[in-house]
Amino acid sequence: MTMTKRALPFAIIVGVLLCGAEESRACQDHDKFPGRRGPRPRRSDLGGRGPTDEASAASSTDVTYQCTAYSYAPLTAIQNSYPVQWTTATIQPNDTDATSLFGSINATLNSKFPTDLPRGTPAGDFSGVSYSSTDPDCWWTSTLCTTPNASTGLPADITNVPEPMTWGLGFDDGPNCSHNALYDYLLQENLKATMFYIGSNIFDWPLQALRAASDGHQICLHTWSHQYMTALSNEQAFAELYYTRKAVHDLLGVTPQCWRPPYGDVDNRIRTIAQALNLTTIIWSHDTKDDWEANTNGVTPAMIDANYQGIIDMALNGSFNTFGPVVLNHELDNYTMGEFMKYAPAIKSAFKQVVPIATAFNISQPYAESSVTFPTFSQVVSGSSTTPNVAVNVTQGQGAAAAVSAPAGSVTPSKAIRGVGNGGDNGGDGASLAVAAVVL
Ligand SMILES: *[C@@H]1O[C@H](CO)[C@@H](O)[C@H](O)[C@H]1NC(C)=O
Ligand SMILES: *[C@@H]1O[C@H](CO)[C@@H](O)[C@H](O)[C@H]1NC(C)=O
Ligand SMILES: *[C@@H]1O[C@H](CO)[C@@H](O)[C@H](O)[C@H]1NC(C)=O
Ligand SMILES: *[C@@H]1O[C@H](CO)[C@@H](O)[C@H](O)[C@H]1NC(C)=O
Ligand SMILES: *[C@@H]1O[C@H](CO)[C@@H](O)[C@H](O)[C@H]1NC(C)=O
Ligand SMILES: *[C@@H]1O[C@H](CO)[C@@H](O)[C@H](O)[C@H]1NC(C)=O
Ligand SMILES: *[C@@H]1O[C@H](CO)[C@@H](O)[C@H](O)[C@H]1NC(C)=O
Ligand SMILES: *[C@@H]1O[C@H](CO)[C@@H](O)[C@H](O)[C@H]1NC(C)=O
Ligand SMILES: *[C@@H]1O[C@H](CO)[C@@H](O)[C@H](O)[C@H]1NC(C)=O
Ligand SMILES: [Zn+2]
Repeated sequence: MTMTKRALPFAIIVGVLLCGAEESRACQDHDKFPGRRGPRPRRSDLGGRGPTDEASAASSTDVTYQCTAYSYAPLTAIQNSYPVQWTTATIQPNDTDATSLFGSINATLNSKFPTDLPRGTPAGDFSGVSYSSTDPDCWWTSTLCTTPNASTGLPADITNVPEPMTWGLGFDDGPNCSHNALYDYLLQENLKATMFYIGSNIFDWPLQALRAASDGHQICLHTWSHQYMTALSNEQAFAELYYTRKAVHDLLGVTPQCWRPPYGDVDNRIRTIAQALNLTTIIWSHDTKDDWEANTNGVTPAMIDANYQGIIDMALNGSFNTFGPVVLNHELDNYTMGEFMKYAPAIKSAFKQVVPIATAFNISQPYAESSVTFPTFSQVVSGSSTTPNVAVNVTQGQGAAAAVSAPAGSVTPSKAIRGVGNGGDNGGDGASLAVAAVVL
C-alpha cells in the first residue's frame, strides 16, 4: 500500500505538539487512516499462484505472495450487502436486521444526546469545534476521559489490565496482508494477542483475518473505515461497528464483543452505540507510537525504541506492581511489526505474562458464540491451558459458508442497552488536552 503513513489531520498535528514523543502516556492513537488501497495485481496475473485458503495464505512470508489480491468465494457471496470499503458506513438498503437494531436505539440516542452531536470531520479536523472544558460527554480526544459519569450507566473503558506485571498485548489496524512473519513469531512464542481489525481490511484480506482467529488470537473491531467516530452521525457510527462485526461473523464465524475507537476518538454517544452492539470499549494505557513514521516529522527510530524500552523499564522499576499496561502496537507495516518482534524477548523477560485482553480479564468466552473459549488468566499462569480452543469452523474457514446461509435476522435486536460490565475502571491517568477542539 502506498498510502503515506501520516495523514496529518489537524487534530493530530496539535496532538503532536501537546503530547511530546517522549511521553509514554498515550495521548493519541496516532495510527493513520490506512486509506484506500491502490490497484493490486489480480490473482490471475500470478497464474493462480495466490492463496486459496487460510493454510495457503499463511504458508509464505514472501510479501508479494501475501499481498497479491485473491478472490474468495465466501466474500464474493456477501459483499454486495456491505458498505463500500474505505467509505463511511451507512445502513445498507433492505438490511432489515441492521435497520431494526438501529431503530431500537435511535430514540434513546436522540433523547440522551440531544446536544452531543457529530463534531469536526471524519478525518479528525476539530479546529472549528467548540466544546466545554467540563467535558460533559467524556470525550477522550478532548480530555482523555475514559470514565463516563456514573449517571450515564456506561461502564468505564478498559485502559489497562488488572493483573500486575502483565502486558496486555494487542495490535491495531490489521489484518495486514503481509503479517505472516509476525504471526509465525507469535505462534512460535505461544503469544496470543487481541487484534483490532478494520472491516475494510478484513474484506481486502479475508484469509489473513481468518488466520488470526485460527491461530487463537482475540478479534476485536476497529471500525469499518477507520475514521474519527465522534464526527459521524448516529447511523454512520452504528454502521461502522455493525458491518465490521458482521464481517467477522460472516467470514470468521465468530461475533466479537470488543472494539477500539480509531485514534481513541470516543464519547458517551459513541459508547452507547457500541454498548448496544455488546461491544466493550478498549483504549490503552501506554503507546509505543510505533506508527509515528520513523524518519519523518522529527520522529526517529531511536525515539520509538525508547518508547518500547520505557514501558519495559517501568515493569522493572515497580510501576506495574498493581496492574498491567494495555499497550498500543500496530500491524501496520514491516517496521511496526518488526519493532514488536525486536522487543518481544525483553518484554517477555521483564513482564510475568504477555496475554490478550480477554485472558487478562478472565473472559473465557470472548465471542457471542460459545464454541470458542479462551483460557482464564490463572489457567495461563498455571500452564494448564494456554491455547484458545478455536471453533472448527474457524480453523477450517467454514464460518462463511455457515453465515451466508444463516437468515439475516440472526442477530437479535435488543431494546435494552445492556451493561457489558468489564470493570477495568483504572483510568485515572492525569489527563492532558490531547486535541485542540476549541475549548470553552
Ligand atoms: C502491510 O505491510 C506491508 C509490508 O510492510 C505493506 O506493504 C502493506 O501496505 C501493509 N498494509 C496492509 C493493509 O496490508
Ligand atoms: C430492496 O428490495 C426491493 C423490494 O424487494 C427491491 O426492489 C430492491 O431492488 C432492493 N434493493 C436493493 C439495493 O437490494
Ligand atoms: C432516527 O431518529 C431521527 C431523529 O428522530 C430520525 O430522523 C431518523 O429517521 C431515525 N432513523 C431511523 C432509522 O429510525
Ligand atoms: C454527573 O452526573 C451528575 C448527575 O446527573 C451531575 O450532577 C454531574 O454534574 C455530572 N458530572 C459531570 C462531570 O458531568
Ligand atoms: C447482546 O447480548 C445479549 C445477551 O447475550 C443478547 O441477548 C443480545 O441479542 C445481544 N445484542 C446484540 C446486538 O448482539
Ligand atoms: C518508573 O519509570 C517511569 C518511566 O521512566 C517513571 O515515570 C516512574 O516514575 C518510575 N517509577 C518509579 C517507582 O521509579
Ligand atoms: C520485514 O522485511 C524483511 C525483509 O523483507 C523480512 O526479512 C522480515 O521478516 C520482515 N518483518 C516482518 C515483521 O514482516
Ligand atoms: C481472574 O481470575 C483470577 C483467579 O481466579 C482472579 O485472581 C482475578 O481477580 C480474576 N480477574 C478478574 C478481572 O476477574
Ligand atoms: C459449522 O459449519 C457447518 C457447515 O459448514 C454448519 O453446519 C455448522 O452449523 C457450523 N457450526 C458453527 C458452530 O457455526
Ligand atoms: Zn487504528
